[in-house]
Amino acid sequence: MKDTVPETTLEACESLLTEHRQTESLIAQLETQLQLLQQPSVPEEVYAALDNAAKAFTTDLDRHFACEEQCLFPVLSRYAPMVLMELEHENLLDLRSQLISAIGQCCPEDIQTAGKSFIKELQDHIGREEFGIFPIAEQRLSLEEKNKVIQSMTDLRGQMSHQPPSLSAKVGRGFEPISLIKPLPEGREVFLEKVAQYENLTLKAMGLLAGHQLKHWSPQRLYMICLEGKVRFESLEQDRFLLPGEGVIVDPRLEFTLYADETSHLLFLNQDIE
Ligand SMILES: [Fe+2]
Ligand SMILES: [Fe+2]
Repeated sequence: MKDTVPETTLEACESLLTEHRQTESLIAQLETQLQLLQQPSVPEEVYAALDNAAKAFTTDLDRHFACEEQCLFPVLSRYAPMVLMELEHENLLDLRSQLISAIGQCCPEDIQTAGKSFIKELQDHIGREEFGIFPIAEQRLSLEEKNKVIQSMTDLRGQMSHQPPSLSAKVGRGFEPISLIKPLPEGREVFLEKVAQYENLTLKAMGLLAGHQLKHWSPQRLYMICLEGKVRFESLEQDRFLLPGEGVIVDPRLEFTLYADETSHLLFLNQDIE
């Protein structure tokens, strides 16, 4: 018997597209408030309205990114690397913090600069997802995978309406086992997976296939420790090999490149220091 629901009619990314349209409304509101900064003397109410407009991105954007990072990207990463999208999320969260802090200091020039760059990066990111990532998802994911993505996003949105977006934010005492060395998915040269997050710390597992490289930077301070393999770290025209048990601490926004001599696994610990 023929499947009653053809795969093409099930859209895994439909709810994410709806959230993108909502995000664009927030962008329009923020743009309106930014224009009011151009007057010679800026009334206090404008800063208050700007603060509201910037903070309106907090909960919704965190939930949207969590749905993509925890529900869509892990399933889609079988077909395309998702590391760059995750890096863009990190960058956007950093730009959002810069904007909120510039508003707090009531400095029109800094607010304009931070606001414009947040808006541009966010619009570009939405474009890259809608013209690059989401079409791949709709074309490549099986019906079963699409159902899994949709269901897990529904569950996550439900959970996050009761608690802040954290993978392991728990009240009271407890522990949970984590695994940091995982085989690289077939056909993947690099993967980066969020393992846990607690307050200003994020723990990620990173894998890089022998002979491949990764250019990276983080808006947060990054503690990077080699767990397995041999990888060359290069930054500021210096380099050093990282063997198991060795690592580097990288300042926020410093660009570096990792070259894997052997297939390597690293622990990334990001610390938000704002
Ligand atoms: Fe995204
Ligand atoms: Fe998105």
